[in-house]
Order: sequence, then structure tokens, then C-alpha cells
Amino acid sequence: MNGKFPHDFLWGGAVAANQVEGAYLTDGKGLSTSDLQPQGIFGAITPRHEGDSGIKDLAIDFYHRYPQDIALFAEMGFKCLRTSIAWARIFPQGDEETPNEAGLAFYDRLFDEMAKYGIQPLITLSHYEMPYGLTQKYGGWGSRATIGFFERYARTVFERYKHKVKHWLTFNEINMSLHAPFTGVGLPADSDKSAIYQAIHHQLVASARAVKACHEIVPQGKIGNMLLGGILYPLSCKPEDLLETQRQNRDWLFFGDVQARGYYPAYMQRFFRENGIQVAITEEDRQTLRETIDFISFSYYMSGCATADPEQYETARGNILDMVPNPHLASSEWGWQIDPIGLRYLLNVLYDRYQKPLFIVENGLGAKDRVEADGSINDDYRINYLNDHLVQVAEAIDDGVEVMGYTSWGPIDLVSASKAEMSKRYGFIYVDRDDAGNGSLERRRKNSFYWYRDVIHSNGNSLKQKG
Ligand code: BG6
Repeated sequence: MNGKFPHDFLWGGAVAANQVEGAYLTDGKGLSTSDLQPQGIFGAITPRHEGDSGIKDLAIDFYHRYPQDIALFAEMGFKCLRTSIAWARIFPQGDEETPNEAGLAFYDRLFDEMAKYGIQPLITLSHYEMPYGLTQKYGGWGSRATIGFFERYARTVFERYKHKVKHWLTFNEINMSLHAPFTGVGLPADSDKSAIYQAIHHQLVASARAVKACHEIVPQGKIGNMLLGGILYPLSCKPEDLLETQRQNRDWLFFGDVQARGYYPAYMQRFFRENGIQVAITEEDRQTLRETIDFISFSYYMSGCATADPEQYETARGNILDMVPNPHLASSEWGWQIDPIGLRYLLNVLYDRYQKPLFIVENGLGAKDRVEADGSINDDYRINYLNDHLVQVAEAIDDGVEVMGYTSWGPIDLVSASKAEMSKRYGFIYVDRDDAGNGSLERRRKNSFYWYRDVIHSNGNSLKQKG
């Protein structure tokens, strides 16, 4: 691996406010949509009653324990930490005129703590949550009014943190709204396609407005989008399978196309027409969309296959999206197919398509860990997964792809997004808490902690290319 990673490569980890912070009503925070999903992003919307609690209400108590956690990240040599701002800490209902000072002050403290160790923040404006008030009063992203509320929020945090945060992302996995509408755009799960695409359109316009605001307000600021990189291969080389694969890949590449190129791709016209989808797009919206992102960021956990044969989809259950399993790949305990080469392929696909710098802002293995009698945690499976993916990142860099950095998902164990489990662990740092919420919340270094520290210290040279 010698010398493949650039000297300023941003090594680090990624978390999200609603999966680590807890303190769900502290210091004036309002309820967020995530607080209404105690079973995770695909779970039912559950009204809150006084006294009830969900695992995310405390999560791993990062809100109070962040100094200790940042010190552990620094010990591994992190150059960068990706997290999100909980919008409902800043605008508790979403439509206030003025922000909540206590919420703003929390992120000042957090960014100052990171600065002590030279850790650069990479901040997502909206990671799978928005103020619940906006969904109740306005129907979430279904309403144009939400664009203005989001822009106010974005301008507020850009102004406040412009000297502390240089790297920003707009919406986490923006393409997930197609699969989890409440999580992505605050719409009920049974919303029709026109409503979902209209809400997505509003979000794309809001994203472009945030890009413009960032460019105006943050000196040397860079802002990217964030895609779920769900790359699909054709299940066979039948031309029908190839076409179907292209069609399905465009379902998610569409978002990147709009955000990176500044306009709706031609293929969407036919898609909208054939599916009876009506989206109101004004001339002003078209102008706004022309403000494009500076870099592309994405998550990558697995690849999948697509086929024109509908019967094959029956076997696909278990993966996060409707992907047909690849017979050549093994799966994680949660059925996510492990494909390091797919990461090299995806990096090349995105760079060929956009010619913009790429940032891998999520990648990792969710697994059950065991604490041994002597307190150690031997997570060689996680080390192997990450090593093999990073080897492929190095190959992509050698292919000529411009990669800004890599933040592995969940450097510290956190509440999983899909099912709100603690037992699906991604961390280099173990957190003593189980799915029922029992545990001391004590932090403990896993074997992978020392492994990742060596990777960062050697700038990737300690990675092992296997036979
Ligand atoms: C991504 C999300 O989908 O995948 C994260 O951006 C999430 O929020 C991660 O945690 C892993 O998914 P899960 O369900 O294993 O937590």
C-alpha cells in the first residue's frame, strides 16, 4: 500500500446526532422525527407520552460524554470526525424566527473539543431527522415552506460555526426517501410516488440553497451531498438484466446527477411520464438547482444485483434495499453482502460520472461483539472487513480517483439506524449497553482500535493486500 494515500487524506469516523447524543429533550431541544421512531427508520411512527422512553433517548450519552469520546478518537489519530447537527436543537419546532442558544452552544463546545486535537468536523445538516413540528404543521418536505425553514437553519449554523467547520454535507443518504419516506422527507410511509418525488424536489432545492449559502458565508468552505451508494450489478449478462440494472442504478444516481450537474437528467422525464408522476418545478427552482456541490460523499456497505426476472426478487428479503443477492459474495450477520471490490468499482463509477472529489463518509461492519473474561474484544472480523475495503480505496486512488477521506461508520458503538439496536456494533470502541438499555455506558477499546490507530499513523501503509 506504500504511498497510495495522499498526505492530507482525512482519516476518521462518522456518527449521527440521533444515534449517539441522547439528551433528546435537553437544553430546549424539540422532538425530532427520529424521536418518533423508537424502532428505527423503517419502524412505525410512535406518538410520545410522558414517561415513556426509547433507546435513542439516551443513546450512548454522547451529549455529556463527548470529551472522553473525542479523546479516544484523538488517541487513534483521527484527522476528521463526521457528525450531524440535530436541527431540532437549533430550531425546536422548525419554524421559529430565532434559534435556540443552548442548542448552538452545545455544538460550539463539541467543535472546540475537536479543535483541541486538530480533528476537523465534517457536519451533516440533516441526518435522518427534522423537527417533528414541521411534519405536523406543514407536512414535512411535502410543503415548499420547509425549504425556507431549512435555509434559515443552514444559514444560522454556517454563520455561527464558519470559523470552526469547513466541510459540510446537506442531507444524509438523500436517496433513502424512496424507501423510508418519513425518515427522509417527513411523509407517511404510504404516500404516493408523486407526493414523494415532490417532497424530494423540495429537498433538492433546499440542498442547492444551502450550497449557495455555504459558498457565501463560510470562508474556504466546501459542501457536498451524501448518497447511499447502493451499486447494483446485473445478475446475468442477459441484455434485459443489464438494462434493468441501469434503470435501478439511476433510481439513486438521479440524486447525484441533480446535485452535481445542476439539472434533472433527461431519463427522469420518461420515468415520471411512465409512472404517472407529476412534480411541480418552477423556473426559479431550476435556477436554484444550478448551484452545485463541491464534492460527492457517500456510504458504502454492500453491493447487490438486479434482474429483469421478477421471481428472483422473492429471494432478496433481508437486505436493506430490494437487492437480489450476489451468489459470489458472503453476508454479514444482518444479511448485508460484503464486497470490497465493489467499493473500488463504485469510486470509479462516481468519478467517471462527475469528475468531482469523493469522500467515503460511511463504511463498516455491523457485528455482535463478545467481551472476553479479561475485558478484551477480539474483533478480527471487523479488522478484515475494513482492511479489505481500504485496500480497494488505495486501488481506486491508483486508478486516478480523487478521494478526500474516509470516515468509517460508528467508530464508537451506537444505536443502529434500521432497527434501533445496540447489539449491531460497528465501533473500535465498545459501549456497555444492550438492546434493552441496560449497561454502564462504559467505553472500552477493541482490538480494532489499535489496528485503526496503526492504519492512520502509517497513512495506510500498514494495510495488508491479501493473496
Ligand atoms: C446508513 C446511515 O444507512 O447506514 C446510518 O446513514 C446507519 O445512519 C448506517 O447507522 C448503518 O445502518 P444500521 O442500520 O446498521 O445502523
